[in-house]
Amino acid sequence: MVSDLFIQELKQYSDIERIVSGYVALKKKGRYLAGLCPFHSEKSPSFYVYPQTQSFYCFGCGAGGDVITFIRRIENLDYMEAVHFLAEKCGMTVPEDEKADALGMQRKRVLEINREAAHFFHDQLMSENGRQAYGYLMRRGRDRKTIRHFGLGYAPNEWHALTDHLKSKGFSEQDMVAANVAVMGKQGGAYDRFRNRVMFPIIDLRGNVVAFGGRALDDQGAKYLNSSDTPVFKKSKNLFALNFAKTSKLPGLILAEGYMDVIAIHQAGFDNAVATLGTALTEEQARLISQYTDKVILAYDSDGPGQAATKRAINIFDEVGVKVSVLSMTGAKDPDEFIQKYGRERFAMLLDGSRNAVEFELGKLRSKFDTQTADGKVGFLKDACKLFAGIRNPVEREVYVTQVANELEISPQAINAQIQSLDKREQYKERRRQKADTNIYIGQMAAAKNDLQRRANLRYAMAEEGLLYCLMKNPNVFKEVYANLKEQDFVTDINRELYSAFAKRLEAGQSIEMIELSSELSPEAMSRVSAIMATAPSQRCDEAALQDYMTILAEHRNVKTKEQVAQMDDNALDAYVKQLAAKKNRRS
Ligand code: GTP
Ligand code: MN
Repeated sequence: MVSDLFIQELKQYSDIERIVSGYVALKKKGRYLAGLCPFHSEKSPSFYVYPQTQSFYCFGCGAGGDVITFIRRIENLDYMEAVHFLAEKCGMTVPEDEKADALGMQRKRVLEINREAAHFFHDQLMSENGRQAYGYLMRRGRDRKTIRHFGLGYAPNEWHALTDHLKSKGFSEQDMVAANVAVMGKQGGAYDRFRNRVMFPIIDLRGNVVAFGGRALDDQGAKYLNSSDTPVFKKSKNLFALNFAKTSKLPGLILAEGYMDVIAIHQAGFDNAVATLGTALTEEQARLISQYTDKVILAYDSDGPGQAATKRAINIFDEVGVKVSVLSMTGAKDPDEFIQKYGRERFAMLLDGSRNAVEFELGKLRSKFDTQTADGKVGFLKDACKLFAGIRNPVEREVYVTQVANELEISPQAINAQIQSLDKREQYKERRRQKADTNIYIGQMAAAKNDLQRRANLRYAMAEEGLLYCLMKNPNVFKEVYANLKEQDFVTDINRELYSAFAKRLEAGQSIEMIELSSELSPEAMSRVSAIMATAPSQRCDEAALQDYMTILAEHRNVKTKEQVAQMDDNALDAYVKQLAAKKNRRS
């Protein structure tokens, strides 16, 4: 682990307001800054940054912590990686630590295995072994240059081709399984996970091979087999070919469905194409894309599922503020086929003519309603107005209103009136939603919404949190508290984790500032720290409060669990029931 001294210094150079502003548009609200939470989707800001404590907290989803926790969450890094990430940003060098943690080492080995596997697969493809696979790619129009550029490969139709190769390079079966390139057999012994497949290495933004996609060359198993999540890979946070597309000079990004589509589009000269990894687009991926561009062209398949996915993607991109246009492909089922059939010029024309999201939706409505009938007209208009009410740019709105007015032979004024009434209703609904939101969260711990243990033990959890708050405000009281209250007296796990981290540091004479805690605590526990700080206005922390908290927790010491009760003999049970009854009388 790195020294506190270094972390303190890092903190000075990594002002949370500046760092978070790189990801979230923040507005000043008194002593705080507020913005739309990057960790869940929302329409009104409940994500707060507190410059004073150098922390953040979202009242909506409960994510919180210090600047390091923020980077961990948003960049999907572990603690040390986040420290390196921030250090790099402010030109500092992390003092080398001797004993890097075990997980870090495993990640390193997994990355090495992936790199070695990618080489192996590629060599196989270029060798006699890979003749059939190579022929397959050629037949599908991929050229040698493209194969090299993407590092495509071939996984032989054998059970131990890769595993034997990796063993000869000194890697353990355990790490191969961790990398998800091998599977552990029932009788022990690892075997190749990918067999007789064309292999697509997935490369992250730092140039690491983090995973693979494999396309079957026969009817064995699924058409595509993808790496599952590993210590170095999270499907929902990566995109195929973003490592190339991020430096493209072309405007915007093209999002396609499949590996083969992306490769075809790149080969045709458009190096700004990416794809998700065998799953529907996630919000995390949309956010990742929004860091590189504010314009995406959707090039999904022209079949039903592709169109449904298009609709979904439009909504997701809308949430993260990325403009979307949609490629309208006819005569081919996907971009790959389109390019093979009609060539790159026609594809370039498609890109130029790609329709924006509103036009795409209008097109759908046109096919849904028969506007020759009165009923159809009314239905179409109703849906179209809903669509238009969502357009914020008045000029853009006007264009569509005029277009639809002409189409249906009705006056633009009538359409505008309809939109306005919808707008008002929308505004009203939004205000109500906001009000409800604030009511729910005032004084409440959003971080713990889903923490069942906390909910089941609310009285004790709140006492624990009050106590933790007192300690953070005034660490001097620690000695007195600790004499009466040990870790095991805490009822809920997360609060106990916090208390024990506090105790460890305070006993050693160290401070418990947030940034120092984050090296020892899980992101969940860090969120709880932030939640406690954020609910400060409703926390008491004088001497009397402290006593109350300790009394409540002491009370719990005498409460037995169901299992303990079941174990009691008659006498003990009798005594316990009497004790409970006495307590009940005291309270009422
Ligand atoms: P080709 O048939 O080789 O042209 O591939 P394609 O990319 O056109 O395939 P398709 O349109 O069927 O699928 C698009 C993407 O969905 C693929 O690139 C995969 O990422 C994913 N996919 C397709 N089939 C499967 C499958 O069986 N399992 C998984 N996990 N993903 C799949
Ligand atoms: Mn295809």
